[in-house]
Amino acid sequence: MSHSPLPSSPALRIADDGHLPVTHGRIMDFAADPIAGMRRMWAWHGEVSALQEATQRIYFVFGPEYTRQVLSDSQRFHSSFFAIRGPRKSAQRRVTSGLLTMNGDQHKEQRRFVMGPFQKRAIAAYHDHVAGHSQDLVRSWQPGTTRDVAADMTHYMLRLTSSILFGLDQPELAYNIGELTEKWVALNHRIGPAALTSDPGLVAEYDLLLQSAEDLEKAVLEMIRLRRGGHLGHDVLSLLIRAHDEMGNVSDDQLIGHIVLLFGAAHLTSAHTLTWTLFLLAQHPEIMRQLNDELQSSLVGSSPTHEQVDALPVLDRVMKESMRVLPASAYSQRIAAEPVQLGPFEVSPTSVIVFSQFITHHMPELFPQPEKFLPERWETISPSPYAYLPFGAGPRMCIGAALGMMQLKISLPTFLKTRKVTVVPGSEINGRVISTMLFPTDPVPMLIEENDGRFEASHVTGNIHSLVDLPAVAPQILRRAA
Ligand code: HEM
Repeated sequence: MSHSPLPSSPALRIADDGHLPVTHGRIMDFAADPIAGMRRMWAWHGEVSALQEATQRIYFVFGPEYTRQVLSDSQRFHSSFFAIRGPRKSAQRRVTSGLLTMNGDQHKEQRRFVMGPFQKRAIAAYHDHVAGHSQDLVRSWQPGTTRDVAADMTHYMLRLTSSILFGLDQPELAYNIGELTEKWVALNHRIGPAALTSDPGLVAEYDLLLQSAEDLEKAVLEMIRLRRGGHLGHDVLSLLIRAHDEMGNVSDDQLIGHIVLLFGAAHLTSAHTLTWTLFLLAQHPEIMRQLNDELQSSLVGSSPTHEQVDALPVLDRVMKESMRVLPASAYSQRIAAEPVQLGPFEVSPTSVIVFSQFITHHMPELFPQPEKFLPERWETISPSPYAYLPFGAGPRMCIGAALGMMQLKISLPTFLKTRKVTVVPGSEINGRVISTMLFPTDPVPMLIEENDGRFEASHVTGNIHSLVDLPAVAPQILRRAA
């Protein structure tokens, strides 16, 4: 077993001679493998530290105390999510002008505007969309076939997110926006880390990014025009246009930025959470059995009803634990807007401060045996919002958290009520952080069968063993794989 658990909280290491917890190294090495980089910073220095290359420093905060300091103070710690904003008046500048690049009063005001379609009352209306899409997925999962579940979940969420954001009456246009956003997000992920260090190799792709932003903006504008031309529905875009036209305090550029951000923020985070949860369940047969008992005894139809979504306790614990151990958002960052004291550091303006769901969720003093997938721990724990933060915390917490949870809690039961998923024995499963997200590498092959209630884990290889401590697989199953 190659997993490398985090040591319990090392005391903050400030040498007696006053030396600060600083490691000298290449910032690009952190960008190339953020989990390894953050694990090192945690093991060497504890809850607050800095990585320094020449005169540039990146700060790291782990654990609830410093995470709270950074995330709750949006005055001093600004968001600056997109590394590449593009030239003034470019499509790239406009499509990156959503909430993630706003701060202060502008962020507060625009967040109130964008949140409308995500209130509990509003998201109830999306229940049938989600149930319908998840039933379509089940129909496409023919028993006896092998599916790449990572690809299926990405495609599934692309369609579902497109329909919730843009409506169902123009599916092809909606899916086209989805696909263009996916391509544009991938380019940002590829080029973004290079902007930290101005890597000359990746800057060559810059033109491609600008073109991709133009294509995306064109498609979003066409959809906005269509909706304004008298086709307002109940999708998120229609609700935003209505509010936009009534309030008049949102520019068209900002509307485009919000729409693109909503898609980018919703699609892959939800897809990866679904893939990781299916994988963890498939590799933990006893927990799959408990969930199966709950689904078979509680679900009358093929999907949970609106009332049932939050009334399935095993499912609730499984989701919480899956998003703890393999959080789709592994880390994120803030920029200091003014000089600020952070532990022993006097942080200067424009410095980058990284916080991490992945590291905080794996601290043994917060979550005993943190590398294990143990949904039952949620019967007795109730961590603070800064100790458990799959959706972030504070004034910039995810506005789609309730919608995201609702989608997950309808999709998984629908998939698993009638289908059994088993990882293809011998598969290599890897997790890799791209930009800030923990991606399952493609493919994650699973055998789809009718659900007969008999579940078995499979022997798998890959760096997944360094991320989660999977139970040993029975020898006869190992032999079958060989
Ligand atoms: C499982 C699914 C999801 C996960 C794990 C997730 C995670 C997150 C996290 C961690 C943040 C905070 C980032 C930071 O503080 O730097 C965030 C912000 C955000 N999320 Fe989500 N998210 C999910 C689904 C969604 C959905 C479905 C939507 C909307 C359709 C959405 C829209 C947003 C927006 C707009 C923000 C920015 C909020 C702001 O800056 O004020 N997310 N999300």
